Formats: sequence, structure tokens, C-alpha cells
Amino acid sequence: MTEPTPHPHPLAAPPDTQVGMGQVLDPTRPAEPARPRVVEFRRVTKTYNAGRPNAFTAIRDVTFFVEDLPNKGEFVAILGPSGCGKSTILRLIAGLPPQHPATEGEVLVLGRPVTGPGSDRGMVFQDYTSFDHRTVLENITFGLECQGVPRRERNELGRQWIEHVGLSVKDDQDKYPHELSGGMRQRVAIARTLILKPRIILMDEPFGALDPITRMNMQDLLVSLWREVQATVFFVTHSIEEAVFLGDRAYVMGPCPGRILEELKIEPADRPARLMQREPRFLETVHHLRDLIVRLEAGSDLASNAGSAPSVVPQ
Ligand SMILES: Nc1ncnc2c1ncn2[C@@H]1O[C@H](COP(=O)(O)OP(=O)(O)OP(=O)(O)O)[C@@H](O)[C@H]1O
Ligand SMILES: [Mg+2]
Repeated sequence: MTEPTPHPHPLAAPPDTQVGMGQVLDPTRPAEPARPRVVEFRRVTKTYNAGRPNAFTAIRDVTFFVEDLPNKGEFVAILGPSGCGKSTILRLIAGLPPQHPATEGEVLVLGRPVTGPGSDRGMVFQDYTSFDHRTVLENITFGLECQGVPRRERNELGRQWIEHVGLSVKDDQDKYPHELSGGMRQRVAIARTLILKPRIILMDEPFGALDPITRMNMQDLLVSLWREVQATVFFVTHSIEEAVFLGDRAYVMGPCPGRILEELKIEPADRPARLMQREPRFLETVHHLRDLIVRLEAGSDLASNAGSAPSVVPQ
């Protein structure tokens, strides 16, 4: 296979363009060799059902890395049209089949090739994946139970996390998932993942099913918890506002087979969502990304028509 020539995508803004709170990064910028990388994709292609008549290539030649910043993980938002391979990328990092293993290329976590799931990575899905027959406390402490942490210790920690995510020990710890609202169930899912202190948190549209006010409250909660756990977060969302609010960095993917077309560095979320999300500079970034995604969804992906495959960061 020939090396792709990294270059900005025709629909992407030129490197260094300032768009409100965001700045377009140059895909050809040199890598910082000294810094360790928390996640790295090296020319990763995933073809489902490879070698069969129904083979389907979901992502092609995806290259990027996220550095391991000391005492502060980055918040990486992944945006793009439906079906472009966002969940595929997340599940490749998680090491979950059938996305794992990649068909070509390498997926590295903390410098090592991914061989399957691990306790260094925690995943939160859209559909509140709690165990129906377990109470809130039992759900939140499930991972600790698997690790063999004694009951007293794990329940104590579990109760702290019930409070951390804004639930009540007194009222909620003995409830079962069917007795909770969607927002409460997602708080349980977040607590269940964060209690294990993973280095990498993978979130696939975690707030997609919530109403707008609950969603903003959950965004603020996530920012405050994330500061505390210092993990690197990969966050897939269809909400551009959510990506700009939460993201230190946003990747915009193009339609199938998915590739990263634009990378934006974004100012950190240092004020509540309801305040930040009405500032003109915030809205300018949102409009820039929305225009790009609308053009991609309209099928004007010039690079894929031309068959080229730009990488975000050169090898
Ligand atoms: N197990 C699978 N077998 C075959 N094809 C699959 C499989 N999983 C995903 N695909 C296909 O790969 C493509 C990318 O899927 P993926 O779920 O990664 O997209 P996505 O960007 O997360 O989409 P959405 O925004 O709708 O969640 C889609 O066309 C999908 O149909
Ligand atoms: Mg998806």
C-alpha cells in the first residue's frame, strides 16, 4: 500500500483558521516525539465480513493520536454523519468484537497494541446498560465486585459515587433500574464506569436519549467528574453544541468509508453549559462544524470521490 499524502480535505477550513473558540489544526504538522500517546491509530482500516460477498469497509486508513497529558486527560469529541464509523473507532479502542480486531493497521493504547478489553478503558453507551436485577448500589459496584474488592469497601466507595453523580444514597441506592428516569440511569452508568478509574473513558452518544435540560446538567456533571478522574475521554455525539462544549479537540469524520477530515482544537469548558453555549464565539464554532457536516451529509465529499485519503497526523 502506498503512503497517503496528508493534506487538508477540500471541504475543511485551511489550517490555523480561527473559528470562534476553535482553531483548525494542520494535518501535516510534525508530531511531538517525546510525549507518550494514550491512543494511537496507525492507518487503521476496518472491513466487516472481510473476504465474504457482503464485505463492507466502514473506516479506511484512519491515522491519529492523542497525547497523554500529565495530570489532565484530553476530552476528544468525534463528530460525523450517521454510519461514518464513529462507533467502530470507539469499539476498536475498547477492543470489543466484531469491531476488534482491525482489518489493517494498528490500534495502540498507552503504547501497546490492543488485544481485547481491559480495565484501563471504560465504556458508557447510549442505552443505559445497567443490570435489571441489580440495585443502583449493586450496579455501581459491579466492576469492583469482579475485581474482588470486599463488600464493605466497595459499598462505601459505591455510596460516595452515588453522591458524586448527583443521586441520593438514602432514596436511590436500593432502587432497580426500572424505577429510575433515563437521566438517573445514565448517572448510574457513568458512576459504574468512573468508579473503576479507567485511564480512558469511551462514551458513545451517552446523552442522546435525554431531554435538553437534563442533557446540559449531565454535561456540567461530566466536566466536573472528568477534572477529578483525569482520564482521556473519547466522546461520540450528534450534538455539535455538546462536542464544542465538552471537547478540547474535535474530529470530524467524512461518510463511509470513514476518515478524519478536520481536526479542531477547542477552548476548554470552564463555565456552565447554559452560559457558554450562548456566547457568539461558541456559536461561531458550532456553525462552522455544522456547515461542514451538512456539506458532508449532502454527499459532497470531494476527497472520497477523488479516492484520496488524508490522515490527520503524518506517520
Ligand atoms: N457488525 C457489523 N457488520 C457489518 N457492518 C457493520 C457492523 N457494524 C457497523 N457496520 C457498518 O459500518 C458502518 C459504520 O458503522 P458505525 O456504527 O461505526 O457508524 P456510526 O458513525 O457510529 O453511526 P451512527 O452515528 O448512526 O451511530 C455502517 O455503515 C454500519 O452499517
Ligand atoms: Mg454509532
